[in-house]
Amino acid sequence: MPDLVRDDVWALLTSSWNPTYGYTPPNRKKYPHQWLWDSCFHAIARSQYRDPRALTELTTALSAMRPDGFLPNMQYFPRSLLSRLMWKNASQGTSDITQPPMYGHAIRVLASKGYDVSHLVESATRGLTFLMTRRLVPETGLVRIVHPWESGCDDIPRWDSWHPGRFHRMTWNVAKYYMLRRVVLRNGASVANPSFDVCSAGFNALVAFNAYELAAVTHDAALVRRADALVANLEKTWNPATGLWDNVTLGPRPRPSNAAPTLDGLLPLLVSKNRAHVAAAWKALADPEQFWGAYGPRSVSKASPAYNPDGYWRGGVWGQMTYLLWVAASRRRSPLARPLAASLVRGAEASTFAEHWNPETGRGNGAVPLGFSTLAAAVPSLG
Ligand code: GLC
Repeated sequence: MPDLVRDDVWALLTSSWNPTYGYTPPNRKKYPHQWLWDSCFHAIARSQYRDPRALTELTTALSAMRPDGFLPNMQYFPRSLLSRLMWKNASQGTSDITQPPMYGHAIRVLASKGYDVSHLVESATRGLTFLMTRRLVPETGLVRIVHPWESGCDDIPRWDSWHPGRFHRMTWNVAKYYMLRRVVLRNGASVANPSFDVCSAGFNALVAFNAYELAAVTHDAALVRRADALVANLEKTWNPATGLWDNVTLGPRPRPSNAAPTLDGLLPLLVSKNRAHVAAAWKALADPEQFWGAYGPRSVSKASPAYNPDGYWRGGVWGQMTYLLWVAASRRRSPLARPLAASLVRGAEASTFAEHWNPETGRGNGAVPLGFSTLAAAVPSLG
């Protein structure tokens, strides 16, 4: 990576650190609190500079874990009165829902760089086990999410079947708030939602991936067995028509948007053991008429009628998604690894480290800067 980008990322990580609580807000104005998967990615970016705050940030993120293994996606620093309008857990300073458990991967990356992660492995194991047991849907053998926000990709067209009528961001925000109020909590842990009950392919892939990553450090055979079962069931969601893995929902209502061509439907590339599926999925990713853009993979296929390159989760490039696909590509020695890494650096730079950017022009959208983009420092230097 060019030194300039490396220096820019470092300047960003340094200036945005919150020393009082020990974490990096994704963006100081728009997202001032701690978000779970963001902090895992920040820790990975920090570890590239041997920054001790990488470990602090991950420790702070995991500190919100409940005894049963439920880990909220947000911690409010400081606690906020307004959050009481959103969450039943607000009095404890947290949200009611979770997010992709990227801490398994973060722990592995930090361990490989010599950080002492020993104090984190018990809670990380507990967190992943919570998801793979308490959130397991017996009918599918997959993990459920109880709100679109849990996927980390909250406005993707895969949720459009839950949207009343044609997608509009304002209406969707109201619908999301309504669904939030229906989340069912057991001792503070969200376990179900009668209005939103989805086995997301992307989320399941990330659960299994993080379990494998953690087990690479802890050699926990039980965790691997659970992850293997998830991956086997995930394979049943393969859609040969799109070359992606679909979401699955139970219940009487048809949800055609489960098969919408969105990038998270390619995240099983991190874990799939099916060579034919993997080959077809790489093809979909590399196709310029579908996902491949000059500044990185589009969050929604260009071929979809919903595609909007500047819309929030409706087509733009997100740094953490590019990073995850780069991890998949480099582990599998795919020729796409190099162009994915290059596009992450190019897009982060062109967008001045934006939340998401236009796949064709690199123009930044959403909050600027946004911590996910610091992952540009975590892909190899391409000279
Ligand atoms: C948005 C993103 C989510 C992220 C949060 C903070 O809600 O959709 O993935 O964690 O912002 O950056």
